[in-house]
Amino acid sequence: MTGQPIGVFDSGVGGLSVAREIRALLPAEDILYFADTAYCPYGGRPVDEIRERSLLVVNRLVGEGAKVVVVACNTASAAALETLRAVIDVPVIGMEPALKPAVTKSLRGRVGVMATPATLRAERFDRLVEHYGNGAEIFPLPCPGLVEHVELGEVDGDGVEETLKELLGPIMRAEVDTVVLGCTHYPFLRAAISRIMGPGVSIVDSGAAVARQVQRVLAVNGTVSVSGDGIFRLLTSGNAEAVGKVASRLWTEPLTAETVDLASV
Ligand code: DGL
Repeated sequence: MTGQPIGVFDSGVGGLSVAREIRALLPAEDILYFADTAYCPYGGRPVDEIRERSLLVVNRLVGEGAKVVVVACNTASAAALETLRAVIDVPVIGMEPALKPAVTKSLRGRVGVMATPATLRAERFDRLVEHYGNGAEIFPLPCPGLVEHVELGEVDGDGVEETLKELLGPIMRAEVDTVVLGCTHYPFLRAAISRIMGPGVSIVDSGAAVARQVQRVLAVNGTVSVSGDGIFRLLTSGNAEAVGKVASRLWTEPLTAETVDLASV
């Protein structure tokens, strides 16, 4: 890495959907990405465990010199953002389901929110609905099992279509006209979700908004990298070969992953 990287973290490869927005907006920035694959998925785990893993990972990213950390995971943000901000001394940018833009966009005020069970259970989600629901009918849709498809690189094909058709049933019957992708793994399934929901349904996620927030924070802190091509480095707590293979598919460029033992920090 040349300068100080932007640290990006998710339970697995899902946060690459956010990292690609950061890459597109800030191509000169180095990105250090951590996939906590050994503990993926986070969505069915207790809050304390998600918090503990998030702290370990973020400490590692900061130890590697990250100038800012992006929690590219709605589940970890819901569970751990306050804790992280209290103990980490670089800016920590989190994310939440893009409810506000979805409610603005929805013509009939019927919005489905796909996310992990942990994200939808969190108090943070209730607050989001309270602040931005604006009278719209919000249909939370927990999607257990979906992250696992993406972790295997299955973003299209019969298996994932079948899982999606079953999962999306409730929000199709509710006749939502807008769907929020409230988990960073789901943007990789956008085409399949859109095909099943039909052409009249808008699909929104928060990746681009997070990238803009990163840009603002770097500008305020005077830490923007302006020249050269940024380097992308991929760390994982899982199997480097398997993670590298799936990540390359999602990133649409060859990537090599390095396995890191967080316990040794
Ligand atoms: N990608 C994550 C999110 O945005 C979490 C997926 C999981 O590990 O359950 O919520």
